[in-house]
Amino acid sequence: MGLKFDFMRKRSTFGSRFGTVAVVGGSVIGLGNIWRFPYVVGENGGATFIIIFIIISFLVSVPIMLAEFSIGRNSKRNSMRAFRKLSRVRAWEGVGYLGIITAFTILSFYSVIAGWSLEFIRESVAGTFMKLDPQQVNDNFYGFVHTGWQPALWTAVFVAATALIVGSGIEKGIERFNKAAMPLMFVILILMCINSFTLSGFREGVEFLFKPDREKLNLHTVLNALGQSFFSLSLGMGIMVTYGSYIKKSQNMFKISGMVVVADMLIAVLCGLAIFPAVFSFGISPSSGYELVFLTLPNIFAQMAGGQILAFMFFVLLLSAAITSSVSLMEVVVAYVYEEFRMKRRTATVFVAAATMAMAILCAVSQMPGSSLRIAGMDVFDFFDHITSTYMIPLGGFLIVLFTGWAVKGSVFRNELTNGGLYGAKLYPGIMAMIKYVIPFLIAILFLNQIGMLKW
Ligand code: PHE
Repeated sequence: MGLKFDFMRKRSTFGSRFGTVAVVGGSVIGLGNIWRFPYVVGENGGATFIIIFIIISFLVSVPIMLAEFSIGRNSKRNSMRAFRKLSRVRAWEGVGYLGIITAFTILSFYSVIAGWSLEFIRESVAGTFMKLDPQQVNDNFYGFVHTGWQPALWTAVFVAATALIVGSGIEKGIERFNKAAMPLMFVILILMCINSFTLSGFREGVEFLFKPDREKLNLHTVLNALGQSFFSLSLGMGIMVTYGSYIKKSQNMFKISGMVVVADMLIAVLCGLAIFPAVFSFGISPSSGYELVFLTLPNIFAQMAGGQILAFMFFVLLLSAAITSSVSLMEVVVAYVYEEFRMKRRTATVFVAAATMAMAILCAVSQMPGSSLRIAGMDVFDFFDHITSTYMIPLGGFLIVLFTGWAVKGSVFRNELTNGGLYGAKLYPGIMAMIKYVIPFLIAILFLNQIGMLKW
């Protein structure tokens, strides 16, 4: 008992509110904001989608984030122990384990993509793709990916950097790094947006992003918004449980989640404004995912005035977005390992980083042509991406809301969330009703739709 108490008393917290928002914001702002959100918006009805997205984010995602924060802050434990502590039914700790496994799996393939951005930072400094035509840009990228060892090397560098930040602790490592990275990302984006104004495709880009389309006002769009919001806000895998455990008792979690959601959307919209005017200026059709950032954009940078500098800024942005997210993923696993196995944070980080490197390198190498590293007809990279986004995240989110709504004593959740009735007490009944009844139902529909059992 004495030991346990000591352990709890020593638990670190984030230093300030800005620090907390920067850390949580660092997790939610990631590759999804840059390469997915703007495209999904453009394809799904522009402003119509954005409005649906905002409604979903506040009505559905914020309550889930608040639930995760509360579970973490109340228990002050890693995400497995948090679930075990708050319920007498032992099986709920499975939700914590699921989250930890999900975070680790995502980290494995996320690190590979982040490794690519390191290579592209190098290439933009060297000016490699500046002289290439589209076919050569294509060959250059796949040539790199298909070597297997080059991406593996960069991935290892990236995982080591992530581990360095996580291993340095909550306030001195994660918070300090995020407080620098977040403003940097804003500055880069603003500069890129200013450049967008000067381009001939500005109007077309803005139209692609914002032009409302009433026809897209349907359930399919709602589900798309729900899926995007979920991934973008890093929900369903215990990240917010873990980060919640470092939030000071005095802080207002409503404010934190509100600020984070607004920052997430703002960055996503700025990314759209930074990217799509350029895409349209060069008569290229919009794309998403790795194609957008590693093929489409390098082509554009190659032709654009000041392209080399813009390319460098863009890939630094991509790397910053990725590393602040991967830090949050690694922290979920590290918090579990060091608390449960009673290790020092640094020792735990070394173990977790080694395991991550092994898995990430497996992902990178599985992309070599003719590689026999395949699961269910996919290379390891695609397989991990698929099982996490289709099954593990929705399932985790679903179980977390069930846990909060039905398994935890209502008074515990209420007290934690409202700081004992101080903040948002009037909102509480509405949030609870969403968590108990509406959100599980919505996630269930999303899930059935994703696995193809319900189709629109
Ligand atoms: N939220 C991040 C993004 O938008 C991705 C992410 C998902 C990070 C899950 C951690 C966990 O890209």
